[in-house]
Amino acid sequence: MEPTLEGGVEVHTYLGPNDERTLADDVLDGLTRPLKELPPKHLYDARGSALFDAICELPEYYQTRTERLILQTHADDVVARTGAVELVELGSGSATKTRVLLDAMSRAATLQRYVPVDVSATTVHAVAELFGGEYEGLSVYGVVGDFERHLGHLPAPVGPRIVPFLGGTIGNFPAGSRRRLLRSLAKVLAPDGHLLLGTDLVKDPAIIEAAYNDSAGVTAQFNLNVLHVLNRELGADFDVPAFEHVAFYDRTQEWIEMRLRATAPQHVRIEALDLDIEFANREEMRTEISAKFTHERLRADLAAAGLELVEVFTDPDELFAVSLARLV
Ligand code: AVJ
Repeated sequence: MEPTLEGGVEVHTYLGPNDERTLADDVLDGLTRPLKELPPKHLYDARGSALFDAICELPEYYQTRTERLILQTHADDVVARTGAVELVELGSGSATKTRVLLDAMSRAATLQRYVPVDVSATTVHAVAELFGGEYEGLSVYGVVGDFERHLGHLPAPVGPRIVPFLGGTIGNFPAGSRRRLLRSLAKVLAPDGHLLLGTDLVKDPAIIEAAYNDSAGVTAQFNLNVLHVLNRELGADFDVPAFEHVAFYDRTQEWIEMRLRATAPQHVRIEALDLDIEFANREEMRTEISAKFTHERLRADLAAAGLELVEVFTDPDELFAVSLARLV
């Protein structure tokens, strides 16, 4: 029997009570290493998400507006070439980008279902209601889950799907885990779906470094905010003003590295972990890598996940790329 697709909105939750442990586990693991490190996902509490939204509007931060322009320019082409009837959105980020794709599917009269996946139940419910109400007859299957762990719980496709993974988020993953994530995304595409991958491109390092060292200091606030997250969530006592924001482009790795540097020796107590940490004067802790891509790196990473490039859409200055890929 055909699945009934008559504009219903349903939301399924796969995040359990143990999932809050990931912050504690990540912090215990990352801060007891010889080179201290925190995974970038913990930058995004409510304040961190608001600061990131502000970053996207900065004059120096070309990525968001460039990706939006590429999407707007090629959305109809993407829909025509993929025949997509459903949109599976991972980490359902910005409503603007979603609307560009849903509009194109709606114009092509192929749009049947929208599947938003996000760790935030509030976000999933909000976008489910928003787009469920906006597009006549659209069926919405929301999933509250983590795209690094719960992709196995997605519903079977109702037809060819597009899976956007936009914003350059894939760049937060170092090469090995990036290929592992791409492999799990490849499974979501089966049998005839397409991945739509947004990546920042390798370019003049001065342009890249300016984007992570903005003159208004918003990126610095965004970076430092992770210490407030640890203070609040884990009962830590980081002296936040005693750290400074550092971001530089590593020309060998071709990635941006964000770090927090202690401006004086510091002792930190993390109550929830019963852990005491020392920072030496000028010791740095890595909070993010953001990999930049060449066409060759894109091709190789996708190939390692069993995917082939169909098309790389870019802007005239080749700042950013939106790549369309499918199973080999
Ligand atoms: C959301 C991971 C793509 O790496 O550019 C922005 C996050 N960090 N400014 C990026 C970020 C500092 C952003 N991504």
